[in-house]
Amino acid sequence: MTVTNFDFNSPPAEASLGAVVGVRGSEARVGLPAPALSDLLRATVGTFLAIAAGPHRLVGVVTEVDGNAGGNPRFGAIARVDLMGEIKQEDGGERFVRGVSAYPAIGDSARIIGADELRLIYRTSGARTIDVGALHHDETIHATVDVDNLLAKHFAILGSTGVGKSSGVAVLINAILDARPDLRVFLLDGHNEYGRCFGSRANVVSAGQLKLPFWLFNFEEFVDALYYGRPPVEEEIEILAEQIPIAKGLYQSQRGQNERVSLRRIDPRNAGFTVDTPAPYTMQDLVALIDERMGRLENRASRMRHHHLLSRIDGLRNDLRYAFMFENANVGGDTMGEILTFLFRLEPNGQSMTVLQLAGLPVEVVDAVVSLLSRLAFDFGMWSDGALPMLFVCEEAHRYASVDHSVGFAPTRRALLRIAKEGRKYGVCLGLVTQRPAELDPTVISQCSTLFAMRMVNDRDQALLRSAVTDAAANLVAFVPSLGTREVVGFGEGFPLPTRLSFKSLSADRIPHSETFRADGVANELSDSQSFVRQVVERWRGATGAKLVVKDEHLAEAVAEPRPAGAAAPAAPAVGASTVSSRIEQIRAQLLRR
Ligand SMILES: Nc1ncnc2c1ncn2[C@@H]1O[C@H](COP(=O)(O)OP(=O)(O)OP(=O)(O)O)[C@@H](O)[C@H]1O
Ligand SMILES: [Mg+2]
Repeated sequence: MTVTNFDFNSPPAEASLGAVVGVRGSEARVGLPAPALSDLLRATVGTFLAIAAGPHRLVGVVTEVDGNAGGNPRFGAIARVDLMGEIKQEDGGERFVRGVSAYPAIGDSARIIGADELRLIYRTSGARTIDVGALHHDETIHATVDVDNLLAKHFAILGSTGVGKSSGVAVLINAILDARPDLRVFLLDGHNEYGRCFGSRANVVSAGQLKLPFWLFNFEEFVDALYYGRPPVEEEIEILAEQIPIAKGLYQSQRGQNERVSLRRIDPRNAGFTVDTPAPYTMQDLVALIDERMGRLENRASRMRHHHLLSRIDGLRNDLRYAFMFENANVGGDTMGEILTFLFRLEPNGQSMTVLQLAGLPVEVVDAVVSLLSRLAFDFGMWSDGALPMLFVCEEAHRYASVDHSVGFAPTRRALLRIAKEGRKYGVCLGLVTQRPAELDPTVISQCSTLFAMRMVNDRDQALLRSAVTDAAANLVAFVPSLGTREVVGFGEGFPLPTRLSFKSLSADRIPHSETFRADGVANELSDSQSFVRQVVERWRGATGAKLVVKDEHLAEAVAEPRPAGAAAPAAPAVGASTVSSRIEQIRAQLLRR
């Protein structure tokens, strides 16, 4: 080929490299010299090219280079270039816009994009951008993300284990907090590793500090906790479904009397509560109601059912691991406002982020807690008409919203899906992190408009990513298996172009890792090995069993083998899980009709 105008020693901003030899949709084929003419003029997969299409300057990325130039004597290779955007002349200067308003013609010249042009692309004018790292193409250029676009919908960080996802979350959230002081951030920290990542900006809540009164859980969540994540006994949940709304009514009517809220006496049975209304009641009332009902029964089997249920409730209340649900649950009365304020940092001028450390909660109840918190985040957004925008970040997202509906707890999946589908209307943005993207419900991923893809070697994970990005960018998924630690290919609305970048490097004291034990296996503040082992044993016992009151064989069965984290609940001996959940649905429908 004849190449004109270039100077091997200067940046090749204006040096023509090749020419358009074919165009199909948003893809152009560009003839290139081969071998490369110089180090500065190497065009390979991932290189950005500028194509002069008449008055338009188009920007595209090379997705494939073929050494067979199809017999064209002018070129040694043909590159496929996905056209991504355009640099436009405006009154005040130049501006990059996504999408192309014109297509190239055969013979239009192509060149490698210059550093100034790249800078222009990542300095999107008029937008609030955050700097998350450096471009792979040129480390002197900051990789920026449009924070409003990022948060307008949802985002996900995907990548195999150990590639830097959690560190990426720390980089991203710190930058987001700088740019959006109005935003509340809630981070579910499954491995207690983010405690130090956000300094004084985050309120770190450990499992021991968490208070989530049992009455805040909806019926399915409460039942899940009561049966330690196992399928419940149908007759027992019918009793509960009948008595819980009455217990709420009783609480309300007592409060009415005590506080003289209303002179009209409220009938607890017709107070208008459903099993799911997040209104307080006391366990004493619930137990008394069940006890009273039992006293009126003549059938021995029914009496035994009631008795089993009471034993079960008693067992849960006395289980020290569940103190976060029962201890002081009714102190302070209706504390829902305080709990929301505390968890979602609703008081003005305070820390705007919560890191909730889930490790330390009983594994059997984590699903129900995540379901409750996701619901609270969404419902708060909905009932406040999105007045306070919130980012809800969920690590290990595949565990809570699995593609396999028999894995995990259905209400948790539903709660996350609801944020994914409708959260943006109410200012609730979801940030998902997973090391097993192929196991994540594709509906959730499809709602994420910005994706941070880190190294993934598994074909199924790559296939999922390919299906989630636009056709034009799908070819770039090929980079994903070869990325290094910290490296990302960013797709979607947060980025001006599909971007290969490295997340900023975190200082050693800000890198997420488990608090109690360091990576080198040495306990942090433990002086001798005996106390170290003693503490391990205490933690172990604390998490897998405490003071358990076992009064019947069903309960004994339920508590004897705690479910390991992430493991699916085994099938019920008497009633199948799906039968029970459909029964819960029926009961709910009946109660609502009433
Ligand atoms: N941005 C970064 N700055 C500094 N170090 C990093 C960064 N990203 C990754 N690392 C290094 O890589 C290690 C693993 O990173 P990280 O824990 O973030 O990976 P991960 O993908 O979240 O792993 P896992 O799947 O186990 O949760 C860190 O402990 C740190 O040493
Ligand atoms: Mg991690």
